[in-house]
Amino acid sequence: MNEIGEKSIQLVVTSPPYPMIEMWDGLFSMKDPAVKELIRSDVEEEIAEAYDRMHLILYPVIRECYRVLIEGGICCVNIGDAVRSMGDRFRLFANHSRMITTLESVGFSMLPYILWKKPTNKPNAFLGSGFLPTNAYVTLDCEFILIARKGGVRQFRQKDENRYRSSYTKEERDKWFSQIWNDIPGASQSTVNNSSRSAAYPIEIPIRLIRMFSVLGDTVLDPFLGTGTTVLAASKTGRNSVGFEIDRDAINWDSLSDVKGLELACDELEE
Ligand SMILES: C[S@@+](CC[C@H](N)C(=O)[O-])C[C@H]1O[C@@H](n2cnc3c(N)ncnc32)[C@H](O)[C@@H]1O
Repeated sequence: MNEIGEKSIQLVVTSPPYPMIEMWDGLFSMKDPAVKELIRSDVEEEIAEAYDRMHLILYPVIRECYRVLIEGGICCVNIGDAVRSMGDRFRLFANHSRMITTLESVGFSMLPYILWKKPTNKPNAFLGSGFLPTNAYVTLDCEFILIARKGGVRQFRQKDENRYRSSYTKEERDKWFSQIWNDIPGASQSTVNNSSRSAAYPIEIPIRLIRMFSVLGDTVLDPFLGTGTTVLAASKTGRNSVGFEIDRDAINWDSLSDVKGLELACDELEE
């Protein structure tokens, strides 16, 4: 993100590829070819190394987010854990916990996070055999929205006009600042430009986060832009935006055609 100056962004809202979710194996393997072999291994140490390497790929992006944010700027990271059978066992890969470690290690202070509980049509879905204990697994039906801050609270001029014009209602505050969000269904995963799946989040997520943690006229960054949901949300809420996406085909250019003031850097993936 060399194009972006230090302390020039007020808010980061993003969702990285989730380590150990199979749809991202190819991307992580392209960024680090050792991952490709390691994720096929049955050896515990090699599985652990694959997982470490995937998180290491995300690390420099988070470090850059810290550099470009202003003092008091907020970084919101939507990430889900992964479950997967590897080697001879089924297990959880707690991505949220690794991401907290990454955020803290680049200098952020963690703030209370949000659990986005996706409403499900299958309340009884679980992995196990019938009704017999002890080997069933709890369903992963929440994702995390981690919230981290650079430095102390953001300072504003007295009676800052943009801040006052950006206020939310009491009803919005009561709903948005509670820890469990259970009123936002997952986004439809329609494909864009022949990509296999978009992994887009519903626009309500970035709209809320942008209204909670930035003011009118601020600039929002999404370093893992995907279809472009964050910049669309920024434009709908009167904020500027900058996005980076490594895979040009992931971007839903049609939905972004009305967005003004959008900056986009596109890095091609090497096959
Ligand atoms: C989970 S998706 C983001 C989805 C997005 N929130 C949306 O609503 O469409 C993660 C995106 O990050 C991109 N990506 C992965 N590594 C990247 C990197 N180093 N730089 C830029 N983009 C990257 C992937 O191609 C993918 O589109």
